[in-house]
Amino acid sequence: MSDRPIGVFDSGLGGLTVLKEIMKILPNEDIVYFGDTARVPYGSRSKDTIIKYTFQAINFLLSKNVKAIVIACNTATARALKEANEKYDIPIIGVIEAGARTAAYSTKNKIVGVIGTEGTITSKAYNLEIEKIDKDIKIIDKACPLFVPIVEEGWSNTDIATLTAKRYLDELIKQDIDSLVLGCTHYPILKRTIGEVVGEKIKLVNPAKETAIDLKKILENQDLMNNNSKVSYEYYVSDIPEKFANIAGEFLKKEIENIKNVEIQKY
Ligand code: DGL
Repeated sequence: MSDRPIGVFDSGLGGLTVLKEIMKILPNEDIVYFGDTARVPYGSRSKDTIIKYTFQAINFLLSKNVKAIVIACNTATARALKEANEKYDIPIIGVIEAGARTAAYSTKNKIVGVIGTEGTITSKAYNLEIEKIDKDIKIIDKACPLFVPIVEEGWSNTDIATLTAKRYLDELIKQDIDSLVLGCTHYPILKRTIGEVVGEKIKLVNPAKETAIDLKKILENQDLMNNNSKVSYEYYVSDIPEKFANIAGEFLKKEIENIKNVEIQKY
């Protein structure tokens, strides 16, 4: 048993989609969330930069005495998870393995769409993980760089979001995908819009739930579970907290108080 918190990190707001699942699946755990809002987006940055940012986020979370870390960002998982696991001793998991597994088991016609940032799509991390499970699955992938700013702007359920989704996704729909991996932690916030554009027949795969289940298994196996009845959630961001508070509160359906600023460059 361990009463130390879990660390969750994303380039910004997107990791809240993973945080929400962790809160549901591990309701007795304290959590420290860090959103690197001053440096979002990571999606178009180089691998070296993302590794540097990810290590700084991990160092910060370690200063909060976390017992395990979830890299709740596809781009950081694709670019820096391996390096993070080589460098640090505590359990660190990302979101891609869980997302790939969910997609591989969800597809019936073995044609899977994967959407994400440029960094995630260029890395082919989803393709590699899905191929490990079933090499007959055909993957149609596409970077959708405008989705992240639309979410960060709070425009997820607007006609701008719908038009953008149509423009990006038409080509995937035409190629007969039956499952679509939301391979960026911001995209589940656009789930309604994306769902309306692709139609009911295409299953939307959100890696967040499987990631939370994976985390639970790791905590159980390493005897790190907590059984707190009163949990604490701390939020840190690298830019001003107000905008984060509004969108996060709306998304998590609760008031988020006491968001603190962190000078992440120091870590
Ligand atoms: N959270 C990132 C991801 O899941 C998207 C935002 C960004 O580009 O930093 O890939």
